This record gives sequence, structure tokens and C-alpha cells, in this order.
Amino acid sequence: MNVLYAVGEANPFIATGGLGDVAGSLPQKIKEKLVNCRVVLPFYSDIPDNMRVKAKYITNFTVHLGWRHQYCGLFEAHIDGTIYYLLDNEYYFKRNGIYGHYDDGERFAFFSKAVLEMLQYINFHPDVIHANDWHTALIPTYKKLLYDEIKKYQNIKTVFTIHNIIYQGQFSLNFYTDVIGLRADQVSDLEYHGCINLMKSAIVTADKITTVSPTYSEEILDSYYSNGLDEILKNNVCKLTGIINGIDTDKYNPETDECIFNNYSANDISGKAQNRTALQKLFNLPTDETIPLIGMVSRLVDNKGFDLVREAAEDILCNKSQMIILGTGDTINERFLQDLANRYPGKMAVKIGFFPDIARKIYAGSDLFLMPSKSEPCGLSQMIALRYGTIPIVRETGGLKDTVLDCSYDNGNGFTFKNYNVNDLIKTVRRAEDVYKLKDKWETLVKRALDSNYCWQNSADQYINLYKTLISKN
Ligand code: GLC
Repeated sequence: MNVLYAVGEANPFIATGGLGDVAGSLPQKIKEKLVNCRVVLPFYSDIPDNMRVKAKYITNFTVHLGWRHQYCGLFEAHIDGTIYYLLDNEYYFKRNGIYGHYDDGERFAFFSKAVLEMLQYINFHPDVIHANDWHTALIPTYKKLLYDEIKKYQNIKTVFTIHNIIYQGQFSLNFYTDVIGLRADQVSDLEYHGCINLMKSAIVTADKITTVSPTYSEEILDSYYSNGLDEILKNNVCKLTGIINGIDTDKYNPETDECIFNNYSANDISGKAQNRTALQKLFNLPTDETIPLIGMVSRLVDNKGFDLVREAAEDILCNKSQMIILGTGDTINERFLQDLANRYPGKMAVKIGFFPDIARKIYAGSDLFLMPSKSEPCGLSQMIALRYGTIPIVRETGGLKDTVLDCSYDNGNGFTFKNYNVNDLIKTVRRAEDVYKLKDKWETLVKRALDSNYCWQNSADQYINLYKTLISKN
């Protein structure tokens, strides 16, 4: 079985968030199970030089996009046994920042069409193309509405994964004629509420739709979570499943991680306390063992729960805990947190920016890890925190609900609350602080977290089964 995994970002080339992490580990796991899985992504100039040099030029071809005829260079890289294709066009991809440009619609329409065109120039014929998020949503769409006219493409199946339904790729109707260039009578598959909606088009045209946790696959059928797409999803619910993400347990391993201050494991957790002290020193916080340290590594946007954090923070700090927060995001949150850190110097520290090394020190050195998200398709940080023996406090939504069980249950591994409400958040932090005081109980929790397993094995099997069911329908 051959699978082509198409994505807007993938480690180890380039990543801005969870999508790049997933694309950096899932295809390898699928490949380890003897499925020939290759990855394709844009050849951004932002990819660091040490990775760019690994890509070797293969050929070039032309991609037609409306009235445009664009050059596409095809490069190939072999990394740890996995083959990556990188699609090059300097006009589209030689920019600072991989997303957020005025013509992102055109850039990713180009990429999506180039992925399908590329199949005529490589010695690899996928049984399944697996597209991810709105950047590649036009792959299933073009495949069904345009490329199925060509025999070579007819047997290819498409899977579309929604990593976050908030970002749908919405453009004016003019984009359809000017850029997408499909027939006028095909617009109904892409049109939604007077706009072109690329995610809608993938939901309608892909053979299977997945999302990154079982709970999120149910939540997005509800208008509270769907950002307007619930009706479309309900009409296509027979194609929809939720498969939880895993994390790269080799990269995130407290026994071997070179970014943290001391290595440790469930057999000897003393190294965790040393990480905590070193982290507190790094952030100029007092090293008092009786005070629980709450960490957060997150995009600083309200959807991740920062409107609740803004309301709850002083309450939390005035009670017992210390807080360390790392991330970038909306100015309102960055300013609020910086101001709070200035007002509570011995209790709260914040660092604005994207610093993967410091993030790992926070995962390892904190006692508790806070994720009060309003919605969370999967969330990887809670699993990474658990991997480092740091106990998550989460709202019961999406993947957070599927991976964290409240301590009031046998085998609980964290603290959870149901409603998106500041009082419930504060109460849950209090519960966590109370358990923190009970040394034995706390140690059991930490060890249980360190023993838990969030590797990809299970999920990779589920994706492979999904691909197999699709292919068997040929
Ligand atoms: C998106 C989601 C996040 C998920 C990640 C990887 O970033 O917001 O919840 O973990 O994609 O699927």
C-alpha cells in the first residue's frame, strides 16, 4: 500500500505548531508498519539551510492555476528512511513566514494542484493521498472534480484530516474563477454562505474525513465547536472518524532529553525536583518546595483559555501557586501576562516567544500544566507534560477529554473541569494544590504519568485500517 501524506508543514523541515509535529512523526510510524508512506510539503525558503541541503532536485513541471502557468520544481529528500517531496516555487514560497500572506489562498491552491500534477513525474503511485487542514483541502477537491477524468488517478482514494476547524480557508467567489479554475457548474462543492470555503470542499469531496480525537469528531457536529460547518459535517458523518494523535516519545523522553537540566524516570524521580529548582532559578522565582509550580506553554490566544486565565490568574497567584508561562499570541494576552509578572515578581514569570528548549524545561520542571482550552482538537502539550511526569489541569474538551482523566477516578492522571467557566477553573486548581500537599499521593500521580504511554502505535494502526477499508472498495 502506498500513501502520500500532504501537509503545509512537517518536522524536521519546518513547524509552527502541532500540525508540523504530527506530520513529523505519524508518517514514520505508518512506514514502520510496512506501509510505504511518503510526505510532500512546500519548499519554503524559511526551511533552515541544514535541511534545505538534504533536498535534491529531480525535475520541474508547469502547474495551471486559472490563467496562470507556474513553474514547480520537484525536490526529494531522504530522512531516516522516509522520503519527502518538496515543491518549489520562489514566487510563492520564498517569503518570511510560512503562513499569513495576502495570497495564501493562491499559494496553497498552487501547492495542492502541484501535488496532484507531481504524480505524473515520480515513480510512486499512491493508493491514498492523505491531506491535512485547509492548506491541502483542494487536493481531494481537484482530485474528484478534475483529475478523476484521467485514468491514472481514478483509483486513488483521499483522506482529509481536520486538525482545527477554526481555520477553513475562506475566500471571495472571485477566487474560484481567478485561481481555482474549475468549471462554473462545479462551484457548489466549494461555495458556502456566499464564499469559497476550502475545508467545506474537502469534507464534501474526500473519501474519508478524520479529526484528531474521538471527542472532537463529535463536538464539531455541534455549532458551538464547528465554526459554521456542523451541517456540512452532519451530511457527511458516515465518512467521519476521530483518531487521537500521539507524541514522539523518543524526542520527548525525560530519560534522555538533552534540553532539560537533569534526566529522570519513573524509577527515580529525584531528577524532576532538580529540574524544578533549576527552572525556578532560570525564571527568578523562589525555590520553595511547598509551593506548586504551574507551567503553561501555549499560543496566547483566547481559544486556548486565556480569557479565563486573565480572570483567574490573580486568584491563583494570591493563593499558593507559582506560574511560568511561555508563548506568543494576541497582544492583549502578551501585555496582560507581562504586566502580571511585573506585579507578582516572586510568583509569576512569563516569556514571550517560541523557544522549544525552554518549553521542554517547563514541561520537565513544572508540577502542574494548565490547558483550560475553549476547544482543543487534540492538544499535544498535555501528553508531553504527562510524559515528563507533570500533571495536567485541563478543560474536558476534544483531545484533552480523551487523554486526561480526573484524579477522582481510579487511575486518574490529572485534574479536569467541564464548563468553560472561571470559577470551575479556580476550583480545579485548588483541588490540584490540595493533592500536591499529600506527598505520597502526589508521587503516585507523578509516577503514573511517567509510566503512561502516548506513543503513535495505536493511532498509526487506526490510520492504516482506515486506508485499508478505502482501498478494499476499489
Ligand atoms: C492543531 C490543534 C491541536 C492538535 C494539532 C495537531 O494545532 O489545535 O489541538 O493537537 O493540530 O493535530
